Amino acid sequence: MNAARFNDIHATVGHPGPIGVFDSGYGGLTILKSIRRALPDADYIYLGDNARAPYGTRSFDLVYNFTLEAVEYLFARGCQLVILACNTASAKALRTIQQNDLAALDPGRRVLGVIRPTAEQVGRITRNGHIGLFGTPGTVASQSYDLELAKLHPGLKLHSHACPMWVPLVEYKESAGDGADYFVRRDIEALFAMDKNIDTVILGCTHYPLLLPKIRLYMPEGIIIVSQGDIVAESLIDYLHRHPEMDARITRKGSIEYLTTEDAAKFSDMAGVFMGENVDARRVNFKDYIK
Ligand code: DGL
Repeated sequence: MNAARFNDIHATVGHPGPIGVFDSGYGGLTILKSIRRALPDADYIYLGDNARAPYGTRSFDLVYNFTLEAVEYLFARGCQLVILACNTASAKALRTIQQNDLAALDPGRRVLGVIRPTAEQVGRITRNGHIGLFGTPGTVASQSYDLELAKLHPGLKLHSHACPMWVPLVEYKESAGDGADYFVRRDIEALFAMDKNIDTVILGCTHYPLLLPKIRLYMPEGIIIVSQGDIVAESLIDYLHRHPEMDARITRKGSIEYLTTEDAAKFSDMAGVFMGENVDARRVNFKDYIK
């Protein structure tokens, strides 16, 4: 890769900046909302790659390339810390970015994901050790949750089911429509057909909380549904306590900038409803920032 393909990464080394929050589309808003509740004074840039969503059905290489491009863009915009608010990107790109790319881009910056904090918590939440996971085909195929859970909580039984239709339902604003009922019910039945003793279900895609009304409707009674927003926010607070040098590199004016690679008006509408505030998003074209 070309470490210097984005202008301005070098100019922002060591300078405090906003927290970058990245997702393939709208899903990361479910993380941003919780993070902002926990850290209201911080500045944020939210970036949704709606033009190229969904990521969940794409190849490893493409998800890695798209994610790296987004991270480089956020770095060039001054972010010292970027949260991949996307399980698919966390599963397919995070490790390589952390281990290979950061050293070349700027070893002082950090990129954090959503899978490890979720896996940490789940072991404390389940009562009987039977866990279900809903995720994108990419996340499920990567077996990232299987690996993390085996390391952190050996002995837990995990059954995973991929839901390729759930993200498109959200991205195309069909999460309240009848089509959503069909797919959500079908996928919940498929998960419980694998293990009827599951007591805890991870929504392992940040888009899925946007389908919660339908998910609650078809989930068997008494099942604990784990959404990631508060878990990731709590883990970020803990990270910043343990890393005061990164905490000092976050600017704090309470601002938020919403960016999308697709239509800005469409993004503003959807994000505005979900965030409960007026959103005035801007469309970004990475090419404008590449040397
Ligand atoms: N929100 C994402 C995730 O957590 C990605 C969904 C997608 O683009 O397929 O996996």
